[in-house]
Amino acid sequence: MALKTAILGVMLRVIVSTAWGQTLTEDMVEKMGNNSLFTRWRPYSHFSAPAGWMNDPCGPMYDPVDGIYHMHYQFNPNHVNWGNISWGHATSSDLVTWTDIDNNPGNGLAGWQDGEAKSIGTTTLTSDHHDPLMYNHLGIFSGTAQPVNISGEVDGTILAFYTSVSRLPTSYTLPYLLGTESQSLAYSTDGGVTWQEYANNPVISSPPDGWNVTGWRDPFYLPLPQLDTLLDNFEPHYYAIFGSGIKGVGPRMPLYSAPASDLTNWTFLGALWEPTANSTLGSLRETGSYGFNFEVSNFFAIDDRYFVSMGAEGGEVSFHDRRWSLWNEGEISTRPNGSIAFNPVSGGASDWGILYALTSFNDTKNNRRIQYGWASEDMNNFGIMQQGYQGALSLARELFVKETSGVVHNPADTTPGNSRYMSNPNGTWTASTLGVRPASDVVAGLRRSSHHIQSHCSKKKCSNTSNIRLPSTLSNSYELKLNINNTTGITGVTVAASPGREEYTNIYYDPSKKSVVLDRAYSSQIRMFPNTTLAGYFEPYQMAGIRGCKPMTEPIEMNIFVDGSLVEIFVNDRFALTGRIYPSREDSNGFALYNAPGVSVQYEDIEIWDGLLNVWPDRPMNSSSELVFDTPAETNNYTWWEGN
Ligand SMILES: *[C@@H]1O[C@H](CO)[C@@H](O)[C@H](O)[C@H]1NC(C)=O
Ligand SMILES: *[C@@H]1O[C@H](CO)[C@@H](O)[C@H](O)[C@H]1NC(C)=O
Ligand SMILES: *[C@@H]1O[C@H](CO)[C@@H](O)[C@H](O)[C@H]1NC(C)=O
Ligand SMILES: *[C@@H]1O[C@H](CO)[C@@H](O)[C@H](O)[C@H]1NC(C)=O
Ligand SMILES: *[C@@H]1O[C@H](CO)[C@@H](O)[C@H](O)[C@H]1NC(C)=O
Ligand SMILES: *[C@@H]1O[C@H](CO)[C@@H](O)[C@H](O)[C@H]1NC(C)=O
Ligand SMILES: *[C@@H]1O[C@H](CO)[C@@H](O)[C@H](O)[C@H]1NC(C)=O
Ligand SMILES: *[C@@H]1O[C@H](CO)[C@@H](O)[C@H](O)[C@H]1NC(C)=O
Ligand SMILES: *[C@@H]1O[C@H](CO)[C@@H](O)[C@H](O)[C@H]1NC(C)=O
Ligand SMILES: *[C@@H]1O[C@H](CO)[C@@H](O)[C@H](O)[C@H]1NC(C)=O
Ligand SMILES: *[C@@H]1O[C@H](CO)[C@@H](O)[C@H](O)[C@H]1NC(C)=O
Ligand SMILES: *[C@@H]1O[C@H](CO)[C@@H](O)[C@H](O)[C@H]1NC(C)=O
Repeated sequence: MALKTAILGVMLRVIVSTAWGQTLTEDMVEKMGNNSLFTRWRPYSHFSAPAGWMNDPCGPMYDPVDGIYHMHYQFNPNHVNWGNISWGHATSSDLVTWTDIDNNPGNGLAGWQDGEAKSIGTTTLTSDHHDPLMYNHLGIFSGTAQPVNISGEVDGTILAFYTSVSRLPTSYTLPYLLGTESQSLAYSTDGGVTWQEYANNPVISSPPDGWNVTGWRDPFYLPLPQLDTLLDNFEPHYYAIFGSGIKGVGPRMPLYSAPASDLTNWTFLGALWEPTANSTLGSLRETGSYGFNFEVSNFFAIDDRYFVSMGAEGGEVSFHDRRWSLWNEGEISTRPNGSIAFNPVSGGASDWGILYALTSFNDTKNNRRIQYGWASEDMNNFGIMQQGYQGALSLARELFVKETSGVVHNPADTTPGNSRYMSNPNGTWTASTLGVRPASDVVAGLRRSSHHIQSHCSKKKCSNTSNIRLPSTLSNSYELKLNINNTTGITGVTVAASPGREEYTNIYYDPSKKSVVLDRAYSSQIRMFPNTTLAGYFEPYQMAGIRGCKPMTEPIEMNIFVDGSLVEIFVNDRFALTGRIYPSREDSNGFALYNAPGVSVQYEDIEIWDGLLNVWPDRPMNSSSELVFDTPAETNNYTWWEGN
């Protein structure tokens, strides 16, 4: 295996230097035409819009009637920036490969060109309930979908619940313009090809009485039989929460319900919980900031546990951007007035890097909760016209209750953190947290076309890296699995290195800082691209020693996906960090193990799957569309959006 690998490495290097050997400079990029860098850093093994701007995942769901998964996303085709935001649409039979859906009936599928993949677009429809404003003419914001009709029956209908927008701009930092957001339904009865607006939209016209909101959007709705029981609802109901907040008070998740038999009739039940503005559950470093406004909130149960997840805006600190992607586990109770209260007990970041607007759905085919998030670009707006698109989604992530038994814990430490602890009769503890891992069937699909390289380390053999034979270069899309047992310092990998180390990226675990790091200081010679380090809190458990032995630090398994510019890092099925790198050279494909000088480490198995599947078999590699600039009139003189 090692020999074959070495040959592959040489072959790749030849291809690199003859066919692609181009080093980009800032001047070169600036002189290039629109879309000329379209394929350069593009992630082909991830979900993405065919071209143009995309952000949040919307309405992911499984339709049991035809066995098809649907994914929508915030879409502005033919533009590289946000604006006139609508939903784009693709489907999949396995969450591995995807097909764009052309919303013109009769055109067939695979509608990747221009705006063909747009499903629910802005309209100039007026509504009785919202007269005289045109309730969704400025945007179709995020939301969720269920495979039911408005009477809650599974009959092949897909019902999308989204935020209709009639005034802009909107931001938690600006005064809220009354009537900006309302909540609306759209549905499809032909498997998602064509969509109709519900005739009496919007179904919820205004925020809760007395709430001076920071925002009020992104309906997340689902059946939750547990709440039917708590609320003595004899008839099954659907429940919805939105991302919201009250100015000067704190972020909020307003809770609503509707009888399943009438999903147009939503009643406000109060705030699910009431965190203080810019507060934190435990230590800021471990549990993050709730900020001032929630976006894309989720509320769901796994087994008998309740969880929320949310994009928290505004809690900027020196070590983290102003957007936090958080989750909390909590206990549910009823308040004296009968409303439902969520009381958080543990929490952390769903993703410590750029991934935002994470949402999830019940994959009823496999009885599991699957999560996706939006991976924005991180280019400092440099070269975006040349790239011709912005944004992708993460891999499908499975959320689960992760329990680790036999850990050491000090019960005097009562500060909430990202695990909660239950005591065992033998004096050890079981740590429980929200687990996250790339869905194993999706990963198996991505590996289908790859070259598998394995370095098996028998006991102690791999404490010296020179005993480990691995390729020195990889392609543009690969998965790494690295098992680290007992390290005394910074340990990880170097990826995307140029032959002379003019540029490279280090990904590592740093035990002294309890962090996992994506170090981009030297990721690109193009200085316009951000070079900041992305880091997240990760503390391994101490495992109680068996039969009087010393406690041992749990082994660390890093699972890393590099796909064009997109880097996704998972650690021990309970940590995720997403980031972007844009090397200037096309031969920056170098790979090596990395640890700080003097560090003693024992590697266990190391595996690489090089050359992951292109998950868009129906699209050409270059699926760019001609870019269009909106006129001042179309953008209200650029107050609604930038127009490019
Ligand atoms: C906005 O999207 C709608 C619906 O797809 C479309 O009809 C309209 O032309 C778009 N407007 C602009 C300015 O792009
Ligand atoms: C929903 O589906 C059920 C079962 O097919 C049907 O009886 C009912 O009329 C449908 N409701 C609507 C509003 O289409
Ligand atoms: C809403 O909050 C803003 C900003 O704090 C304040 O200026 C405004 O007066 C408030 N509006 C109401 C109706 O309380
Ligand atoms: C809507 O639901 C509420 C509460 O369940 C109920 O009292 C009301 O009658 C319903 N409205 C309509 C129009 O069905
Ligand atoms: C939010 O809290 C952080 C950390 O306590 C603090 O540094 C920051 O200034 C606060 N932000 C605002 C806008 O109050
Ligand atoms: C998914 O929904 C089904 C009911 O359709 C429920 O029994 C199951 O517990 C849910 N699974 C998850 C993981 O949410
Ligand atoms: C203690 O008990 C837990 C669960 O009951 C078990 O998983 C663990 O291995 C035990 N640890 C020791 C050191 O005996
Ligand atoms: C880690 O190393 C220790 C000490 O050599 C060994 O007992 C243990 O089995 C190793 N753990 C794993 C998961 O390999
Ligand atoms: C871990 O490594 C340290 C330093 O090399 C060593 O002292 C210790 O015995 C190791 N522990 C295990 C369990 O292997
Ligand atoms: C990172 O970028 C900043 C801003 O361009 C620059 O000042 C700094 O020197 C860069 N850091 C490194 C390590 O190149
Ligand atoms: C990019 O597209 C825009 C919009 O069509 C056009 O105005 C501009 O001239 C193009 N720029 C280049 C460098 O081709
Ligand atoms: C558009 O904005 C510019 C710059 O603020 C201003 O000079 C111009 O009058 C505005 N045009 C319209 C039609 O509002």
